[in-house]
Amino acid sequence: MEGIGFKANDTFIGKGEINQYNEKIKSAYERLETDAYTGWVDYPVNYDEEVMQNIIETAKKIQDQCEVFIVIGIGGSYIGARACIEMLSHSFYNILDAKERKMPQIFFAGHNISGTYHKELLDLVKDKDISICVISKSGTTTEPSMAFSIFKEQLEKKYGNNASDRIYAITDKEKGILRKEADEKEYTSFIVPDDIGGRYSVLSPVGLLPIAVAGIDIEDMLEGARKAYHQYLNEDLSNPCCQYAIMRNILYKEGKIIEVFEAYEPKLQYFMEWLKQLFGESEGKEGKGIYPTSLQMSTDLHSMGQFLQDGNQCFFETVLNVVQPQNDLMISDGDNKFKGRSMNEVNDKAVEGVRLAHVEDNIPNIRIDIPSLTPYYFGQLVYFFEKVCALSGYLMDVFPFDQPGVEKYKEKMRQLLR
Ligand code: PA5
Repeated sequence: MEGIGFKANDTFIGKGEINQYNEKIKSAYERLETDAYTGWVDYPVNYDEEVMQNIIETAKKIQDQCEVFIVIGIGGSYIGARACIEMLSHSFYNILDAKERKMPQIFFAGHNISGTYHKELLDLVKDKDISICVISKSGTTTEPSMAFSIFKEQLEKKYGNNASDRIYAITDKEKGILRKEADEKEYTSFIVPDDIGGRYSVLSPVGLLPIAVAGIDIEDMLEGARKAYHQYLNEDLSNPCCQYAIMRNILYKEGKIIEVFEAYEPKLQYFMEWLKQLFGESEGKEGKGIYPTSLQMSTDLHSMGQFLQDGNQCFFETVLNVVQPQNDLMISDGDNKFKGRSMNEVNDKAVEGVRLAHVEDNIPNIRIDIPSLTPYYFGQLVYFFEKVCALSGYLMDVFPFDQPGVEKYKEKMRQLLR
């Protein structure tokens, strides 16, 4: 099967500049072998098959058990699963007819502290059959812990002693109050691997259980990741992960301090949120880092398009391009000037037109071609970006697997609440 494509002819970076990073990329690769929190590197080739089958069985049970599945978590314990579900499901999956959907409605909670959001969600689902999954590596994060308590109470009111059979937990194997509760109340639970940090965990049980409940083939997803593992194994400068990581660092040194991720397919909106977390939390430290942001095209061409073309040139663009979209529509109305053309054909022209206009004004442009939106390519794409991000962080001389800034706000908030 063909892989995702990395196109970087429009970055205005010469081969010689890339070659200068030869030694640095070698030592970055060495660190991937020895540093802490690099469990995600080998995960697609050495995950536990028994855990995988258990996740698949549990997902089937949840699909049969409930009409509404609530996934509670924040940051790395939330955004990867949402990115996958939004990318690979029907654009309107929650409002499709239940028979057509063939899976529970899926809602997310605990990714904010809004009383309004949670009250409205509770009101929306309270008369339906509900199951919940709480995901927190530490088991102590404020947002999911509050949402969990609200939905657990609802389940206990509704199902009494049977509530535990509808509660699923994904957390550390021994630390934290969530693990203690899961063991005491005998929730079905899964372990967040010790050596995998939140934002690198979507291909572990953290992402796999909710994704499987959404009816997405997680074995295919890991096969895609496995392909990427082999494809990007070597520290060779022709490896797209190395090239992209090096190019980001060269552009950064040239004052391109913002990376604008752009997608012309709305299903990628949450994938770009995942990218923002991945790069922002991994690189943004010690006063360094490329600020990741995203634009939804062509919507944002009618707002931010002006800035891109003519504004402060402190950014480079990374376009996520879906080569073969799932669906299309032809314009057949004789009065329309686009008669005989399809929407996807015109969307492709928008991608190309924007590239030409921007490159003419020397805006560096990278393009990632995704053959189609399938579980396999999702797995490949995730692994590709995780590797690029880790390498890029090392080249920037930061440790890409901690998040002291996030921990600091969590602690301050806990102090205020005490
Ligand atoms: O990437 C990270 O480490 C963070 O974004 C965490 O995933 C997030 O803060 C949630 O933490 P926890 O899973 O411990 O609730």
